[in-house]
Amino acid sequence: MEATMAIKKSLVIWTFILTGLATFFEVVPVLADQSPVGHFSMGPHRENMRKMQAFKASLIRHDSVSLAPSPSSAPQPPEGTGSARVYHVTSYGGDPTGKTDSTVELLRALSAALQGPSEGSLMEGITNLGGVQVDLDGGNYLISQPLHLPAAGVGNLLIHGGTLRASDDFPMDGYMIDLSGSSLANKDQENNGTSMEGAQLSSSSSYNYEYITLKNLLLDSNYRGGGILVVNSLRTSIDNCYIAHFTTTGIEVRSGHETYIRNSFLGQHITAGGDPGERNFSGTAINLMGNDNALTDVIIFSAAIGVMISGQANTLSGVHCYNKATGFGGTGIYLKLPGLTQTRIINSYLDYTGIVAEDPVQLLISNSFFLGDAYIVLKSINGVVNGVNIVDNMFSGSGKGLGIVQLDQSNGPFKNIDQVVVDRNNVRGMGIKATVAKGAVQGNGSSWTVDFNRVLLFPNLIRHVQYSLVSSINGAFPNHVLRNVSENRVVVEADVSVPAHVFVTVDQGVTD
Ligand SMILES: *[C@@H]1O[C@H](CO)[C@@H](O)[C@H](O)[C@H]1NC(C)=O
Ligand SMILES: *[C@@H]1O[C@H](CO)[C@@H](O)[C@H](O)[C@H]1NC(C)=O
Ligand SMILES: *[C@@H]1O[C@H](CO)[C@@H](O)[C@H](O)[C@H]1NC(C)=O
Ligand SMILES: *[C@@H]1O[C@H](CO)[C@@H](O)[C@H](O)[C@H]1NC(C)=O
Repeated sequence: MEATMAIKKSLVIWTFILTGLATFFEVVPVLADQSPVGHFSMGPHRENMRKMQAFKASLIRHDSVSLAPSPSSAPQPPEGTGSARVYHVTSYGGDPTGKTDSTVELLRALSAALQGPSEGSLMEGITNLGGVQVDLDGGNYLISQPLHLPAAGVGNLLIHGGTLRASDDFPMDGYMIDLSGSSLANKDQENNGTSMEGAQLSSSSSYNYEYITLKNLLLDSNYRGGGILVVNSLRTSIDNCYIAHFTTTGIEVRSGHETYIRNSFLGQHITAGGDPGERNFSGTAINLMGNDNALTDVIIFSAAIGVMISGQANTLSGVHCYNKATGFGGTGIYLKLPGLTQTRIINSYLDYTGIVAEDPVQLLISNSFFLGDAYIVLKSINGVVNGVNIVDNMFSGSGKGLGIVQLDQSNGPFKNIDQVVVDRNNVRGMGIKATVAKGAVQGNGSSWTVDFNRVLLFPNLIRHVQYSLVSSINGAFPNHVLRNVSENRVVVEADVSVPAHVFVTVDQGVTD
């Protein structure tokens, strides 16, 4: 009796694994873009830069002598010239009340610190200052010119403990703290280094600075220019800094590597969200134009673009962007490295503002929270998206159905798609998008269609299908076949009409 029932109820289950189907669809080999991992090539430009910097260093070292406190005007020598080497800005006549301009006094303190005793070198050509400190003594100093570190080729220096405020005549293209090697750097870069040809060059590191730490500083750019500029330096730390009122960029990092920005707060306007002027916010809080940098536990509360990245192998972790909302034209994180992205964004919080990635190649976005209809845009430049994992994030929106990941194909469609995984994200009040999907359909007939367009990220792309046909019809074994997957619709047909469930799993991201 039981056996009869079992036969009557025997299920007809067919499973097809259709890897072969992929061959019917265009599978374009990925561009073999194998430039040296994580670093720009060492070309003639780099060499010119090196020579240029060496030359500038020699100029600036000379300048800095005149900046050092002269016996007549100098205040008392820095505390502990014998052993401890802490250079107090107030000892150099800096006005900690911020009433009078302290640019010269700050530069004197910096200059003295850089000329103090040194202990060998770090990288070749980088003098080890042994941990010398320039202490702002908890003061609030007005400056009318960028604080260019007055010599290149030094390292192991800490500048800390106070507030800097730009004056009303601070140069609009300047940065309050400028680690560019010299005040000539920007102009020379515009000249592509040609002005340095034939200059007598001394030996120097190919980097400007190494292991400079900027800590516990509040920088108020007074809506004139930027906060901190780091050029071609190694192992720079920007720690517990608060950077506000920039018009250009809060922190800009150009070439070099390993600038670590952590526990810091950046915003053009000092606000705590929901600002009525938000539509007007401009500027970029952090611009990483170099490799191998990290942002860790950084809050960006006001700017048109929170973080702009155009160098490889940067990591963002614990970054909370609530700058200008996407709806007002803002962007949380903009990855402008089409073709070689190499960026990891993890454990971050995109708050009403999203992520844009141009032609992403190797990008991980994971364990992050997207609030207020914030979403991720993959923007086609040359139609390449390769090695992208957008997994294990949370998305929360207002029920408008905005897709959690969207394609901007205004420059042309993505046509070179490989190893893209958008999956395992949880979504409330937004439209889920994925590259892997499951569906089922029930029907009595000879054809079953599962439409995946609502979920699948890429249009008309199914590379891999697996399906099961489950029918309870009496002892029958219908022939059935996967008939069609075009337009993201999976069609299964049988040779006879049967009541059946069809279960389908599809994948857009895999090639084999
Ligand atoms: C610098 O290089 C850029 C691009 O290579 C070029 O367009 C520009 O004219 C050059 N400028 C000078 C001053 O040589
Ligand atoms: C935004 O900027 C415009 C044009 O500069 C100005 O008219 C407007 O008052 C500003 N809005 C706010 C809220 O600051
Ligand atoms: C399926 O359709 C056939 C005729 O097309 C009908 O005879 C049969 O009862 C249907 N079965 C179910 C379970 O609806
Ligand atoms: C597959 O379906 C599309 C429409 O979605 C149709 O144009 C095409 O002819 C179908 N292919 C086959 C083999 O039936």
